[in-house]
Amino acid sequence: MKGNFPLEKFEEIQTPFYFYNTELLQDTINAAKNTADKYNYHIHYAVKANANPRILSIIRRNGVGVDCVSGGEIQAALDAGFPADKIVFAGVGKADWEINLGLDASIFCFNAESIPELKIINDLAKAKNKTASVALRINPDIDAHTHDHITTGLKTNKFGINLNQLDKTLDILENLPALKLIGLHFHIGSQLTDLAPFRVLCSCVADIQRQLAKRGVVVENINFGGGLGINYNRPNSDPIPDFQNYFEIFHKYFPALPHQQIHFEPGRSIVGQCGTLISKVLYVKEGYSDKFVILDAGFTELIRPAFYKAYHKIENLSSKESPETYDVVGPICESSDYFATQINLNKTRRGDYIAIRSAGAYGEIMAMQYNCRQLPKAYFSDILADKNETIRH
Ligand code: LLP
Repeated sequence: MKGNFPLEKFEEIQTPFYFYNTELLQDTINAAKNTADKYNYHIHYAVKANANPRILSIIRRNGVGVDCVSGGEIQAALDAGFPADKIVFAGVGKADWEINLGLDASIFCFNAESIPELKIINDLAKAKNKTASVALRINPDIDAHTHDHITTGLKTNKFGINLNQLDKTLDILENLPALKLIGLHFHIGSQLTDLAPFRVLCSCVADIQRQLAKRGVVVENINFGGGLGINYNRPNSDPIPDFQNYFEIFHKYFPALPHQQIHFEPGRSIVGQCGTLISKVLYVKEGYSDKFVILDAGFTELIRPAFYKAYHKIENLSSKESPETYDVVGPICESSDYFATQINLNKTRRGDYIAIRSAGAYGEIMAMQYNCRQLPKAYFSDILADKNETIRH
């Protein structure tokens, strides 16, 4: 059912809602996993992109791990059945209870982002008579050439340990006996469509590795984070990101040491294209100069256009009439509540179904209840296609 929407089924469902194409999700996971397997790379799906329990359980069935950034995400991953030894835990501000949760579950690795954090993990691990495996998240000061809000590896960003402090961090680690250094972690940003920054990252990590070798430090694991972008302009013709091209960069440009394990944390590239926000048109009205299509979905369901000025392809699923130019907006009482300005849509009327595409990542998970709205529900193509399955509201 790729790219198709079961409109007759939608009639039974209250809009707005998220609709996930589970066949596309599985095809995307296969593409990522098969390519990663070729190089013996490990995938940890970034839960922050979408933590819907059914999405998590589909991903888990494929044997990949997870990247978590909060105690809530660790719990969601454990609830979905991900094995603790495939969980990595990053985040600049890990609270004590979150660290304790990771310690109790014996997760694979804490991606530690500062010296004070390392000391706290050490204290909490010691109190439990445990050894915590840690990777140092390094801020490599590399420009990912993506939106400011989703650039994470620059000097000015809050993430990671600054390179000038690496030596000092290693000195301090020698006196933190409840920690075992098992790796280095990086994440330079999200929605990278120009992959050149990943090449820069490869040579930067190789440099760091040489620097560590001089101190006699060899790490077993290198984690390059996530960041591979998706094609928001062409969800139909380009539904699966080019994982081959992506992983090949690391294979070609990063000289892994013998037995070193290489990890990645893709989020958007796994779930982005399989999700669509389905909404109905409430009103079409004439403004001073623009014609507004007012949807029953707003930034409460999908905040990306308002927050990052992100582009999402919008389609009218109900109309085949010739296109007209509209501003597509939501019902929230804020001027920033828009999805697109001056776009062409087939002539649109009240009651038409509108699909906001490529919303599987950072969509449902970032939904909020502002204006006392209900959180959106999610429906899945395989369940809707099953004639015997009644739709659960
Ligand atoms: N690893 C770490 C440490 C991260 O911080 C992130 C994303 C990822 C992996 C996954 O990156 P991805 O493969 O999805 O690019 N809400 C924003 C995106 C924020 C990304 C935050 N970190 C958006 O809607 O574009």
